This record gives sequence, structure tokens and C-alpha cells, in this order.
Amino acid sequence: MSEHAFRERDPLPWALVLSAAVTAFLIWLIYFKSPAVEGGAWTSVLPAVNATLNSLCAVCLVAGYVSIRRGRRRVHKRFMLSALGFSALFLAGYVTYHHVHGDTPFTGRGVVRPIYFAVLISHVVLSVVMLPLILSTVALALGERFPRHKKLARFTLPIWLYVSLTGVVIFFFLAAYN
Ligand code: HEM
Repeated sequence: MSEHAFRERDPLPWALVLSAAVTAFLIWLIYFKSPAVEGGAWTSVLPAVNATLNSLCAVCLVAGYVSIRRGRRRVHKRFMLSALGFSALFLAGYVTYHHVHGDTPFTGRGVVRPIYFAVLISHVVLSVVMLPLILSTVALALGERFPRHKKLARFTLPIWLYVSLTGVVIFFFLAAYN
């Protein structure tokens, strides 16, 4: 898409359509599709790789925020686009892992169980909300509509940070209890 298109159009409608398609695909992948029958032994490393990608994303988000507060726009842009890249790689790793393994049940018992599910549910709900927010925030920035970008980014940034950090927390929960 040309920069011209970013400048002309309101990004929210197509961001919502694209996000709804991605969300529907993920629901099918995780809850309805049967795990792949063969191959994919190498994918057991993916949860650790995905958690690393989430951590790198969180680092870029914080660095991107610090740079814009210091007025360093080009550095801000680079960090935020890197955060986007790490999240996209995470999504690819996540989809590959779930294609092979399906859903991962949590076997922890006692007090840790409600804590895990509170983190998991908030993570899942906010990850759905986050998708159209990220796409719109980036599109507004690339279209140089900075006042609107700044307004929307105030919601996008904390939600994105929460989702990437809780992604890492969930990885450690599953590693410790499964
Ligand atoms: C989704 C990724 C992005 C997020 C979450 C994000 C986040 C933010 C936030 C929170 C602010 C406001 C900072 C404040 O409180 O002063 C901001 C401002 C800004 N962002 Fe981004 N940003 C992203 C991507 C980009 C990109 C790709 C560009 C460049 C093309 C960019 C350019 C700017 C500029 C120029 C401002 C200053 C706006 C002003 O002060 O009027 N951002 N961004």
C-alpha cells in the first residue's frame, strides 16, 4: 500500500476487518482444528522462541516510548516497527506451534490455578482488542497523521505491552507446571 493510501483513508474499518479475520482463524486453529498427525518434533523449541520474541517486543515498546518522550522521532519509528516485526514473528511461531500441538492444557492445582487463568483470560481478551489498535496506530503514523496517532497510541502502547509481557508470564507458568 502506498503512503498516499495511508494518508487518505481512515484505517479503522480495514484494521477491524483484518483483525476479525485473524481472530477467527486463530479460534479455528486453537479450538477446532485437530493437531497435525506427523512431523514437527523441532517445534518443541517454539514456546521458548516465542517467549523471547515477546520479550524483545516489550523491550522495543519501552525503548520506543522513551525515545519519543525525548523527541527522537526516527529512533521511535525504528523501535516501534521493530516491535511490530517481533510481534509478527511471534504470531508466525504461535500459529506453527498450534498447528502441530493444538491447545496446551494447564495442569497446575491449588492457588496457582485461578491466578494462571486470570492472567490467561486477560491476555487473550486484550490480544483481540490489541490487533486493530496496532494496525490503526501504525497506519496513522505512516500516513503522518500524528495528532490522531498520538491519541490512539496512548491506548495501544499499554495494552500491547501488557499482552507481550503476560505472554512471557504464561510461558513460565506452563513450563513450571506441565
Ligand atoms: C504501533 C506502533 C507505535 C506505537 C505504539 C507508538 C506510540 C506512540 C506514543 C505513545 C506516542 C505519544 C508519546 C507521548 O506521550 O508524547 C507517539 C507519538 C509519536 N509517534 Fe508513535 N508509535 C508507534 C509507531 C510510530 C511510527 C511507525 C511512527 C513514524 C512513522 C511514529 C511517529 C510518532 C511521532 C512523530 C509522534 C509524536 C507525535 C506528536 O507529538 O504530535 N510512531 N507514538
